[in-house]
Amino acid sequence: MLLDVERENRAILAKEAHLVADDAGFDCARQNVSVTQARPLPADLVTPCLVVDRDVLERNLVAMAARVRDRNVALRPHAKTHKTVEIARRQLALGAAGLTVATVGEAEVFVDAGFSDLFIAYPLWAAGERGRRLRALAERVALRVGADSNEGMELLARALVGTPAEVVVEVDSGHHRTGVQPERAGEVAVVAQRLGLPVAGVFTFPGHSYGPGQIRPAAADEGDALQRAATALRRAGVDAGLRSGGSTPTAALVEPAGLNEIRPGVYVFNDAQQVEIGSANWDSVALTAAATVVSRHGSSVVLDAGGKVLGADRAAWATGNGRLPDHPESRVTALSEHHATVAFPADAVLPELGSTVRVAPNHVCAAANLADVLVVIANGAVVDQWAVAARGRNA
Ligand SMILES: Cc1ncc(COP(=O)(O)O)c(C=O)c1O
Repeated sequence: MLLDVERENRAILAKEAHLVADDAGFDCARQNVSVTQARPLPADLVTPCLVVDRDVLERNLVAMAARVRDRNVALRPHAKTHKTVEIARRQLALGAAGLTVATVGEAEVFVDAGFSDLFIAYPLWAAGERGRRLRALAERVALRVGADSNEGMELLARALVGTPAEVVVEVDSGHHRTGVQPERAGEVAVVAQRLGLPVAGVFTFPGHSYGPGQIRPAAADEGDALQRAATALRRAGVDAGLRSGGSTPTAALVEPAGLNEIRPGVYVFNDAQQVEIGSANWDSVALTAAATVVSRHGSSVVLDAGGKVLGADRAAWATGNGRLPDHPESRVTALSEHHATVAFPADAVLPELGSTVRVAPNHVCAAANLADVLVVIANGAVVDQWAVAARGRNA
């Protein structure tokens, strides 16, 4: 049985080596050697837990703030990634125009914490109780809300008319999730105005940037779709200037001709996905799960951080269920609730039983949503602990 598992692990590692050779845009080989030095974890951590390296986080925050300043676009970071008040405050202190959130629940947490300018970048279905909660928010703070249908606009109008809240028309730039075709943005905006809702502009999420070799074409689609949507609004007689885009992968390629606001979220922490698509490197991964090696067999180890800590997201192109930044040659080949199986090449030196290792989740937003707190470390010591204040506020 064990032998079977090992054979399977080796097959996965061999397949990945082949993948690297196949796709020049998917440079896993480079990512395997890009780690400069292992960052020490404090000795007394109770694992599993999510650990944030304060200095790496700060570097990521400062770099994005500088990038948007250089390009002359506004930054409205998506707070669904970190869900913590402390990081959101730092983002605003570094010049962010406001916050993006995905749900009314997330908005309520940040408004209660004193944030006064929010965009719910989601085609919100504002029926019943949700509509009443939305109106209560709109009466307290500056609020923008997404919509991509006339029916959605009607519900928003019932909830919001009479408040200063604005709506933003979502357009599809190639991710094919939500959003109308850019040429139809004018029609939806006209309906909003007829219903008495002020229109701020248009937004899109270029989620198709998440894939090997996809960042550059998706960034081009993003700018193009927003420009076409802005033209559609002008033709329909709607005077509204916001062109909001942004994913973490495309943020590096932002062109002010296409958009004037970006909403990246993951950039604060980065994760295994960002490394594998080449939009981050191991040195810019600020959040990892600290996990203990609880079992060792052949060329595999088992860690105590399973799917309930790392989250279960795994894109079709991902090389595993998470990565170990200090052992980039290994792969997390299986997750159960409380176990992560990590396969190493046959000649690798395995971490000791009982030792603590760092694991980068595939998708850090999903991992943060599973944690009550983030343990903040600097220079190998715990320096703070932040509540994941908006965790689980999915409605
Ligand atoms: C509408 C919207 N805007 C912005 C973002 C943030 O992008 P990223 O997760 O790449 O940082 C997301 C992420 O899912 C999103 O759905």
